[in-house]
This record gives sequence, structure tokens and C-alpha cells, in this order.
Amino acid sequence: MIIAIDGPSGAGKSTLGKLLAEKLNLLYLDTGAMYRAVALAVLLEEVSARDHEEIIEIAQDSAIELRGEPKKQRVKLNGENVTDDIRTNEVSQIASIVSTIPQVRKELVRRQKELGKASKTGAILDGRDIGTVVFPKADVKFFLTATAEARAKRRFEEDSAKGVKTNLKKTLGEITRRDERDAHRKHSPLQKADDAIEIDTSEMSEEQVFDKMLEEIEKRGKG
Ligand code: DC
Repeated sequence: MIIAIDGPSGAGKSTLGKLLAEKLNLLYLDTGAMYRAVALAVLLEEVSARDHEEIIEIAQDSAIELRGEPKKQRVKLNGENVTDDIRTNEVSQIASIVSTIPQVRKELVRRQKELGKASKTGAILDGRDIGTVVFPKADVKFFLTATAEARAKRRFEEDSAKGVKTNLKKTLGEITRRDERDAHRKHSPLQKADDAIEIDTSEMSEEQVFDKMLEEIEKRGKG
């Protein structure tokens, strides 16, 4: 079984993806982490975000591994643990830029398809183009949304809990900038698949979203 979860950043895709993957014993693939790993490699190699040729080469040559249980998933870039390093604001912005390059997408989509298909029990993938491009025939597709304000508030609270100094206005600005780029890029923009189930999580608790998603999966007779 393949389950696709798409939507803008901060809508709850990864939290819910991990919970569902554990419940249903499926592989969990955070495809955003792969774009982030490429972005980190670009930063480490001090390549300009405008140098597409170099960035494509980096994407093709980088070994990216997602390992471990869904909730404790570690991300490795060329053998190094970069789980925390890929979560900085700088990496978020560069990831959003490198993900506009079609050859970078082509390379990562190829790997995502391979990883998803290789899992015997099936997989849950979260991203922006899973239901439209990576697995257009996914068994169940979700499109999670929330208002920019609700998403900024969640991100701000997560950052504050981690001790990251920030403020709500700045977080909202960053979210809006990334939304704009992810939704309006030429190749595979963030888009709801026609057959995706849309859930606005703004006013819902994690548990409510989880129950709703599980119900939808079970309704399709495959849960
Ligand atoms: O989900 P995230 O915030 O970790 O994703 C980081 C960036 O990667 C985001 O700006 C959009 C991009 N991305 C993408 O273009 N396609 C995906 N399937 C996943 C992420």
C-alpha cells in the first residue's frame, strides 16, 4: 500500500505521516528531508544557489539515507548524520530554491519511487508532489492544509521548545515566502491531486487529524 501526503509546510504532514506509518507498519519517507539534504550539501560545498549545473551534479552524487523507526528517523548525507543540520532556516530556504530545478527533482523522484516500491509492507511518503508525480496511483492520497497563521504558530512553538530564538512575525514571513515559491514554481508545484482527500488541520488536534486519516484509509478497505 502506498499513501501520499502532500501539502504546504507546517500543515502536519510529517507528524501525521510518522504516526500513521507506525500504526500501519509502513515505511515512512520524508521526501522534504531529501531536498533539504541536497540543500545542505550545496551550502557545505559553498556553491551558489544560482549555479544550477553544480547543484544538479551535487544532487546526483550525494548519498542520502533515511534510516530508523519513523519517529526517530535519522538522515545521513554521504555517511554523515545530518538529522538536525537540515532543519535550520537557511537550509529551508535553500531547499525551496534547489527544489525548483527540474533535474534535481527528476533525480530525487527516481530515488523516492525506488525506495517506496522496495518496501514490502508499503510506504507513506510526505511531500509536495507525491500524489501528482511520484505516486500518481497511490492507494490513498491526502492533502493537508492549514492557514498560514496556524502553521506559523505551530512552527514558532516548535522552534521555541527547541530553544531557537525567533518570533511569530518572522516565522510567518518565512512560511509565506516558501509557500509562494513552492506553489508557483514551474515544475511540479505544490498542487492537490484531483482524487486527494483534503483536510484543513487549522482547528484540529493531532489526534483528530490522525483519526480522520485512519478512518479514510480503512474506508478504502486497505487499512
Ligand atoms: O517538507 P519540507 O519543508 O521539509 O520541504 C523542504 C523543501 O523541499 C520545501 O520548500 C519544498 C521542497 N519539497 C518539494 O519540492 N517536493 C517534495 N516532495 C518535498 C519537498
